[in-house]
Amino acid sequence: MSDQIKIWLFYLIILSFINQSHQTVDVEVRAYIEGYNDRARQLSNEYSLVSWDYYTNITGHNQNKMTALSLKWSEFAKNESEKAKIYNISALTDGNLARQLNMILDVGISGYDDSEVLEKIANIGAEMTKIYSEAKWCKTETNCLPLDPDLTDLITNSRDYEELKDAWKGWRDASGAQMRSLYQEYVQLMNQAIKAEGKYADMGDYYRSWYEDPDFETDVRELFEELSPLYDNLHAYVRRKLQSQYGAGKFPSEGHIPAHLFGNMWAQQWGNIYDILEPYPGKGMESLTDEMINQKYNVTHMFRLAEDFFVSLGTDHLPESFWRLSMLEKPSDGRNVVCHASAWDFQNGTDFRIKQCTTITQEQLQTVYHEVGHVIYYMEYINQPYLFRGGANPGFHEGVADIVSLSFQTPEHLQKIGLLDELPTGNEGDINFLFNMALDKVAFLPFGYLIDQWRWSVYRGETTHVDYNKAWWDLRCRYQGISPPVERSENDFDPGAKYHIPGNTPYIRYFVSFVLQFQWHQALCEIAEHTGPLHRCDIYNSRAAGDRLREMLQMGSSRQWGDALYALTRGTAAESRKMSAKPLIEYFKPLQEWLEIQNQGERVGWDKASCPSWHTSSAPRKFSIWQIASVLAACILISLTF
Ligand SMILES: *[C@@H]1O[C@H](CO)[C@@H](O)[C@H](O)[C@H]1NC(C)=O
Ligand SMILES: *[C@@H]1O[C@H](CO)[C@@H](O)[C@H](O)[C@H]1NC(C)=O
Ligand SMILES: *[C@@H]1O[C@H](CO)[C@@H](O)[C@H](O)[C@H]1NC(C)=O
Ligand SMILES: *[C@@H]1O[C@H](CO)[C@@H](O)[C@H](O)[C@H]1NC(C)=O
Ligand SMILES: *[C@@H]1O[C@H](CO)[C@@H](O)[C@H](O)[C@H]1NC(C)=O
Ligand SMILES: [Zn+2]
Repeated sequence: MSDQIKIWLFYLIILSFINQSHQTVDVEVRAYIEGYNDRARQLSNEYSLVSWDYYTNITGHNQNKMTALSLKWSEFAKNESEKAKIYNISALTDGNLARQLNMILDVGISGYDDSEVLEKIANIGAEMTKIYSEAKWCKTETNCLPLDPDLTDLITNSRDYEELKDAWKGWRDASGAQMRSLYQEYVQLMNQAIKAEGKYADMGDYYRSWYEDPDFETDVRELFEELSPLYDNLHAYVRRKLQSQYGAGKFPSEGHIPAHLFGNMWAQQWGNIYDILEPYPGKGMESLTDEMINQKYNVTHMFRLAEDFFVSLGTDHLPESFWRLSMLEKPSDGRNVVCHASAWDFQNGTDFRIKQCTTITQEQLQTVYHEVGHVIYYMEYINQPYLFRGGANPGFHEGVADIVSLSFQTPEHLQKIGLLDELPTGNEGDINFLFNMALDKVAFLPFGYLIDQWRWSVYRGETTHVDYNKAWWDLRCRYQGISPPVERSENDFDPGAKYHIPGNTPYIRYFVSFVLQFQWHQALCEIAEHTGPLHRCDIYNSRAAGDRLREMLQMGSSRQWGDALYALTRGTAAESRKMSAKPLIEYFKPLQEWLEIQNQGERVGWDKASCPSWHTSSAPRKFSIWQIASVLAACILISLTF
């Protein structure tokens, strides 16, 4: 043999050896990951079951059971990431395996060595959730109101400036203010645990990494800025209407609006005060609540309606156990429960549940569609391995939960289900409809954006406990154009009066979801061959749209979310893999034009540099609440409403 040939042969042997060793790595890793998915699924099932017990029956005993499981999960995650480290990811040929291996390696704070710190984090988290869930505002010595349903009803229905103010303040005194020092310690411990891993700068950095997009922060800022003019116009119109409702002396006509007047405890969505704001009184858009009560709606019927919508798109029915095991109403046996609505995946293939203290209102009906949407997503990606059972990014889960709401609220659909007699005709009915939608979908945008602006800044250390509340109000004033109705100080902790702060649920997902749902809606309406304006499109019964939607849902988190987005929107390549504000803007275009005319000669906007009547004051109060409790880690899939 010539030397040349010898060298070639040598190469060939080496090549085939490398190839084989690659495949061997794949085989080994595949076996390991299958085992992992099985173990993780089982543990997650166990953990979900005890968490459910706690969330539907808050007792010390149930807390302890949950703590034990949360620590077991941390230990499990850490053990597995140690095992996973022996494999050489770059040697894998199957990208699916590499993606899963990376997920196993990325254990978040569970990787931290000091289990005492992890236990403390779990305990503080549960303690804060408990404070929030048990908080009551005592209107008089004997009349104490919990958030659900009493305070919520009051804020929704009262039009008495002073009463609203007292309730607004009372809730914050009873909830947020009670957990201020706990939160401070929580942040410090979480950062300590995540930084030790050496991969993330702080907890906010870790949460952002879930979006697999290095430009994520910039992208959401640009989307927000693109959407701001629409919000500012809505704000100016609402400000004028609220002034005529409550009297011109209550707040300046060119500035911020007091935060307690929006029919919502956090001024995050404004649909509850539609009656005060209605552009053309009496032109369609009666409150559905009255109609639902007239028609003797019950809770089961509300959930059946939502199920029926998804089934019309080609999904399965909710399993029998859903109806048997869910908690669809607030228990009347005096148990303390976490009422904040959530949808649960118990990871055993058939066990999906919703926990909601449902009442017969239009707002609750919307929440019902939302939570059922989560469950449908769980059911659609059931054939994915455990690691890929999740939204393509956290905003996907929320967006999917909402997508049907854009259809079911159209007059066309309400008529189909018998909640509306006549379709509104003419421009006035249309404006009323779009305006009502904007009170939910546009009013929410700055709120959805700012919560994590605050939290990221706290995790970064740019905001410290010395100005927690000031930084919070700076953002609320700048982005939402609202102001506190009573003096605030650093004795208060208003972020803690919103569930997702004590509950430690990242919030930017809701902003992302509000943008995405309009992108999807537009694409699906096109597939459903809808004609006419986007806001009158109802995808009910369109199997073509349903099939395309389900294609995306079934991918779970097996691919970067741009691919999942593309699976639904298709369209022109580069654009359809990115979030876009354009469909939302197009949807509301007739309203935007109408608002601009209404606001002519007015100042649109407010002073974005400062918060009115901000008072700094005394040093924070000290608390020494310490109790053993526990908290959910990221391993169990619960999806919350905003
Ligand atoms: C609530 O949990 C306790 C255990 O702490 C248990 O004894 C009780 O039966 C539970 N209540 C219900 C209604 O499940
Ligand atoms: C973690 O690994 C240790 C040591 O191998 C073992 O004793 C323990 O049972 C494992 N824990 C879990 C939850 O897998
Ligand atoms: C991992 O695999 C890559 C690609 O096959 C190889 O270049 C690298 O040397 C391997 N690393 C280790 C530590 O074996
Ligand atoms: C709830 O409403 C549905 C449909 O209207 C009805 O069939 C069912 O009997 C009602 N259930 C209860 C418990 O009233
Ligand atoms: C899943 O859980 C439900 C409720 O706990 C149970 O009824 C069902 O048998 C379980 N299914 C499997 C496959 O384990
Ligand atoms: Zn949700």
